[in-house]
Amino acid sequence: MMFRNSVKVGRNDPCPCGSGKKYKRCCLNSKTPKPVNVEKLYLEKYDIRLKHAKDVEGIRAAGRLVIETLDLMEENVQAGITTDQLNAIAHEFAIKNNAIPAPLNYKGFPKSICTSVNEVICHGIPGDRVLVDGDIINVDITHIYKGYYADASKTYFVGTPGPDAKKIVHVAAQSLKAAMKMLQPGKTIGDIGWAIQKYAEGEKCSIVREFVGHGVGFDFHEAPHVPHYGKKGDGIVLVPGMVFTVEPMINLGKAALFVAGDSWTAITRDRKLSAQFEQTFLITEEGFESLTPFEL
Ligand code: MF3
Ligand code: CO
Ligand code: CO
Repeated sequence: MMFRNSVKVGRNDPCPCGSGKKYKRCCLNSKTPKPVNVEKLYLEKYDIRLKHAKDVEGIRAAGRLVIETLDLMEENVQAGITTDQLNAIAHEFAIKNNAIPAPLNYKGFPKSICTSVNEVICHGIPGDRVLVDGDIINVDITHIYKGYYADASKTYFVGTPGPDAKKIVHVAAQSLKAAMKMLQPGKTIGDIGWAIQKYAEGEKCSIVREFVGHGVGFDFHEAPHVPHYGKKGDGIVLVPGMVFTVEPMINLGKAALFVAGDSWTAITRDRKLSAQFEQTFLITEEGFESLTPFEL
């Protein structure tokens, strides 16, 4: 799943100045290097589409609806409700606000949101499961609004949490917070994974590797991949205009998972708890802005 693209420009690569010539025939030996066309370089080298101000406005508006939907989920998560009822509430809210729930029919996904309870890591399909006191549930919302995508998720307690539930939800939330410290131009995709790994493994929890954060905005899943583990300084350098999610899935037991017979629901092999928080972030000149902001 992981791309480990080096940022080093090869002699035969397109020149970072955007001239279209090979680097060796252009700026490699030039004493007065031309300004680098970062937008063109990131598209050609990494397939990353940097976002302009009007795109950011669109994604931010989609993000506002995603957060309002998550708030609505929080109000409705309680013992006795089914995941299908949560799906219906989120779906109706999206439609009423002229948004389209992105998961519905995405690669055959049958519902409008993902609901992942307890040992379910992600991509749980809403159904007739009734929430009971002590459960934890991640609700993952992605809406399309005026053509723009925003993606965020939170894990909620149902009633009163036990110590294991408290621990994993806390570590998952603080994992995302640790990642946010790395969101600034000049840091790398590897720095994000490194920060999460250092924190979460320090808490004796494990990190899911099969699913990663992703570019988002023009489409549901764009380049780059954003692994939730990694080495300091590895991978693509963050530049202003990048919009991507960070969404660490943190397990109380081991990292190993299996996918259920429905070919979506990802479950911990050891059936221990898993939790996740996700936001959509913009890299800015100063650092970052969350386009789906909530407190952690
Ligand atoms: N929202 C998920 C993510 O964070 C993707 C869900 S894909 C679906 O990337 F098909 F399951 F909805
Ligand atoms: Co996502
Ligand atoms: Co999501």
